[in-house]
Amino acid sequence: MTELTGKVAIVTGGSAGIGLGIAAGLVREGARVVIADIDEVAGKQALAALGENASFWHTDVADQQQLRDLVDHVASTHSRLDIMINNAGIGGANHPRLLDDDLSDFHQVMGIDLLGVMAGTREAARVMKDNGGGSVVNISSIGGMNASSGNWAYHVAKSSVIMFTKCAAIDLGEHNIRVNAIAPGNIETDILGRNQGAGVPDEKRAEFTRSIREFIISRQPLKLQGKVEDIAQAVLFFVTDRSRYVTGTLMPVDAGLSAGTPRSAGGIEGLRKQAQG
Ligand SMILES: NC(=O)c1ccc[n+]([C@@H]2O[C@H](COP(=O)([O-])OP(=O)(O)OC[C@H]3O[C@@H](n4cnc5c(N)ncnc54)[C@H](O)[C@@H]3O)[C@@H](O)[C@H]2O)c1
Repeated sequence: MTELTGKVAIVTGGSAGIGLGIAAGLVREGARVVIADIDEVAGKQALAALGENASFWHTDVADQQQLRDLVDHVASTHSRLDIMINNAGIGGANHPRLLDDDLSDFHQVMGIDLLGVMAGTREAARVMKDNGGGSVVNISSIGGMNASSGNWAYHVAKSSVIMFTKCAAIDLGEHNIRVNAIAPGNIETDILGRNQGAGVPDEKRAEFTRSIREFIISRQPLKLQGKVEDIAQAVLFFVTDRSRYVTGTLMPVDAGLSAGTPRSAGGIEGLRKQAQG
């Protein structure tokens, strides 16, 4: 199946993790993909795996001018832009308690996770409106839906991505540009260990990350570890005509975590069992 033959896509943060998985999915379906990332070394490695339909353009998504240069480059090289995946993101500092947080990561997290998405959408729409429309997919997070204590700036940025997605969808619909968001759950990339592992000794980091993943899975209705391919599949729905009637939506891809906690995780059912003896 090559549903995207002739289409041109940008994937921000495409050098690694979820972005790389999305880029691979788009290339597999026939699209030409430009990876826009700050990590040039990983980006070049990614190109070796993706083949001749992928290229790299150094971009810091927190810098609006760099996003403009990226889109200008794509428009002049490929003469069109059909798909924009605003995926680049960072977790920021993890202060579990608000009283301990100096919020010093606020501007960096907002710049990448929110402004990068807003400006990326705007710049892409500039070109898409002249080639008959397009599809923008913004990568939010389960952290944009579910509150928790810690990663304060991240939660706020990711929930704002969901609201921005709706606002952009109603504004850009007249140009046949669809804008949707995905909220990944627990996906197997390096971000979790980096984010939650601050202060944990290097030799214990892998084990610590594994135990967090086990904890999250115990609270998921589906007992599965999420893979980058799970997000790539959701993206493929949003960027093909399969979703031509869909805009302004959020799709959680999280094994049901945002729907609620299953009985197997304990809760009142566990307490009842204990009380029954
Ligand atoms: N992995 C998960 O479980 C998970 C869950 C929910 C949401 N997400 C979101 O998915 C997206 C991708 O996460 P990931 O797990 O693949 O992370 P990752 O750290 O594995 O990859 C992130 C990529 O973004 C790039 N990047 C970072 N800052 C950038 C910048 N300023 N400009 C351009 N590129 C930049 C990095 O170089 C890297 O290639 C993020 O927005 C993240 O918040 C991930």
